[in-house]
Formats: sequence, structure tokens, C-alpha cells
Amino acid sequence: MSSSRPSFVIAIDGPAASGKGTLSRRLAQHYGFAHLDTGALYRATGRDMLAAGLDPRDSTAATAAAARVDPATFDDPRLRDEAVGQAASIVAAHAGVRAALLDLQRRFAASPPGGLDGAVLDGRDIGTVVCPDALVKFFVTASAEVRAHRRVLELQARGLPADEAAIRADLIARDARDSERAEAPLKPAENAILLDTSALDADAVFAAAQGIVDQKLFEATA
Ligand code: DC
Repeated sequence: MSSSRPSFVIAIDGPAASGKGTLSRRLAQHYGFAHLDTGALYRATGRDMLAAGLDPRDSTAATAAAARVDPATFDDPRLRDEAVGQAASIVAAHAGVRAALLDLQRRFAASPPGGLDGAVLDGRDIGTVVCPDALVKFFVTASAEVRAHRRVLELQARGLPADEAAIRADLIARDARDSERAEAPLKPAENAILLDTSALDADAVFAAAQGIVDQKLFEATA
């Protein structure tokens, strides 16, 4: 931050494979803001537990793993594995894990790396818990069929096998776990703007969001 102006924060929540990651990256690039994929924090925790032979349901071990998570490892392609996604969803239900990861996310939002003027954070509880005062909040959804198909295309692009029916069932199970947990469940913030991407391509989603962010930035800086 070059001045005392608070960072502009864009909060993007939604279920797995809803298109929120693509939208977040594009908004961050367009506005010159930093981007944090907060799912990577939970995925890295899940990955590290599986690698150590630990059970993601063990809340004490999961909390310790979350406290040791290293953002330098977020490029690891294994973070995108389905097994790691499921483990991430299990560790994410532990209050200790969420508490261990909260500060890092709030610091990123308040003081984006590189002194940038704003930050885009995407996840499940950004608008509700991590950044309740965000300048703008989006809740990005799409049907389970569309999301499963997108995940299949992603896996195929990585040269990995993809069973669409199994992926759809996994997504639905993960949505249920993420939405029904007691701690910071997946749900739209009261003042979130809903974007259903089922019938929209990435350009149309970006255009819709950009119009809204432009207006909010105009109001905030007027
Ligand atoms: O967005 P993703 O699929 O990479 O997230 C993986 C899991 O991490 C997701 O199933 C739930 C959890 N998660 C969370 O609980 N809170 C967040 N802010 C981000 C992710």
C-alpha cells in the first residue's frame, strides 16, 4: 500500500469448480490486485496429512499441519488431485484448522503482497468470515452437472483419467460437507452478488463481475 487508504478487497465464494478461481485470477489481473486462492491453504493441509500417513479427521494433527502450511508449495500440481480436494474438505471442518489459517488470509487482504492496492480472495467463507467488510462480494455457483464437466476437462488437460459420474458424486459430497459444517459453512454473505455461471463462459462471467466492481470502486474513490 502506498497510502493509508485501506486495501480494496474482492471476496469470491462458491462451491468447487463453480468458476470462482478463473474469475478471481482475471479480476486480480485486470485491477492489478493480489490474488489468494484460499482453497490452496486447506488443500496443502490435506496434502501434507496424506503424505505423512495421517487421517484428515484427526483435528489435533490437522491443526498442527495447518499451522505449518507453506505458501511456497502452492504451485504443487498434487494440490489439484481429487483425493487432496476431499482431504481438504475434511480438514476444513475443524475449528482449529480454520483458526490457524485465518490470520494469514486477513493479513493478505489488509496488506496485499507487493504493496498492491487491493486483493481478491476466493474460497468458501471469505465474504462471511475472513473479510466481512470487503468492498464487493460475489457468490459464484453453477449446476453440479456443469461443474463436474468442467472438472473433467481440467483433469483431461492434465492428461489424467476422469470418470464424470464419480467426479459429480464427489463434488456433491464435498458441497454437502462444506455447506453443512458448523464452522464457517459455505453460504452466500447477506450482501453477496450471486453469479450463476452454468450457462455463461468465462468472458461473460468476467464482464458481469467487472461492471459491478467498477461501480463499487467508483463509489469508494469518488
Ligand atoms: O476451492 P477448493 O476446491 O480448492 O477448496 C478445497 C476445500 O477447502 C473445500 O472443499 C473446502 C475448503 N475450503 C474452505 O473450507 N474454506 C475456504 N475459504 C476455501 C476452501
